[in-house]
Amino acid sequence: MNDASLYSLLATRERPSDRSPNDEEIIAGLCAAQAEISPKYFYDLQGSALFERITGLPEYYPTRTEMAIMSEYAGDIAGSIGDGATLIEFGAGNCEKARALCALIEPKCFVAVDIASDFVRDAANGLRCTYPALDIHVVSADLEDEIELPADVPRGQRLGFYPGSSIGNFEPEQALRLLRRIRGLLGEGGALLIGVDLVKDEAVLEAAYNDAAGVTAAFNLNVLRHLNRLIGSDFDLRDWRHRAFFNRAKSRIEMHLDAAVDARVGWLGGKRFFRRGEDIHTENSYKYALGDFARMLELAGFAQQFCWTDPKQWFAVFLARV
Ligand code: AVJ
Repeated sequence: MNDASLYSLLATRERPSDRSPNDEEIIAGLCAAQAEISPKYFYDLQGSALFERITGLPEYYPTRTEMAIMSEYAGDIAGSIGDGATLIEFGAGNCEKARALCALIEPKCFVAVDIASDFVRDAANGLRCTYPALDIHVVSADLEDEIELPADVPRGQRLGFYPGSSIGNFEPEQALRLLRRIRGLLGEGGALLIGVDLVKDEAVLEAAYNDAAGVTAAFNLNVLRHLNRLIGSDFDLRDWRHRAFFNRAKSRIEMHLDAAVDARVGWLGGKRFFRRGEDIHTENSYKYALGDFARMLELAGFAQQFCWTDPKQWFAVFLARV
């Protein structure tokens, strides 16, 4: 390649107008006074695998507690749903929860909606082996945008499944908007089965996001590696430290990455200096009171709710009808 063509190649790649809307959003977040990265960027292949490890950690109670609630009340849940539904899971991840639910309610069709579609595709293929008759679809979608389902997904008896308290990543107003969109997607006769993490003792909450093995720290830091690939940034992971705490006033766990040194971060067409101690906000995980979440479902247009919890009331599973 001659100098001129190399130069023009570099020049075109560095033109800010060649960036995708997602890149623009990421860069705007990095440049904000309080820098931030959306938690949806945690889930590259490695991040999805790290999250799967988090769900098995002794300190991380949500997944295990939700599973226990669902198996304790399996009969009630199955009874209020019925066979032959179209199961639509949001943020399907490794599809393990859907696998358990499929055994219980024997749906006709399963739609896995997730931002990490490669990871989910493999998991959904695994599900195909267990349930060969199940009609399986994988939909790649960002839950902040309109969710479009393939035309051949049946319209009747849709059951939305949004486990794991993933709804907690959204600000309450955003969460309400998402629930309304989900209600629209489910349609008349539809229902939503949703898991929600509840407010509890600070020590329990904070331990769940500061595990002794450091998996959550690795999960948090991995977002920088993902960004390096997405926007061509040069984050040095060794310069950053994981921090997570419960913000009681806002009823949410916050995760941040703190600069351990003065750090210069560059990407195609831009840069930012972070002073030592400055941070990037990477996640909110809202914790609800039972009554508050019930009210939110109602505001979103869901009625006739059932709610199951564990004996310590650490986690809740709601079934709500459109
Ligand atoms: C997938 C959003 C439910 O908030 O607990 C786990 C993500 N972050 N450990 C959560 C997460 C750090 C998780 N959600």
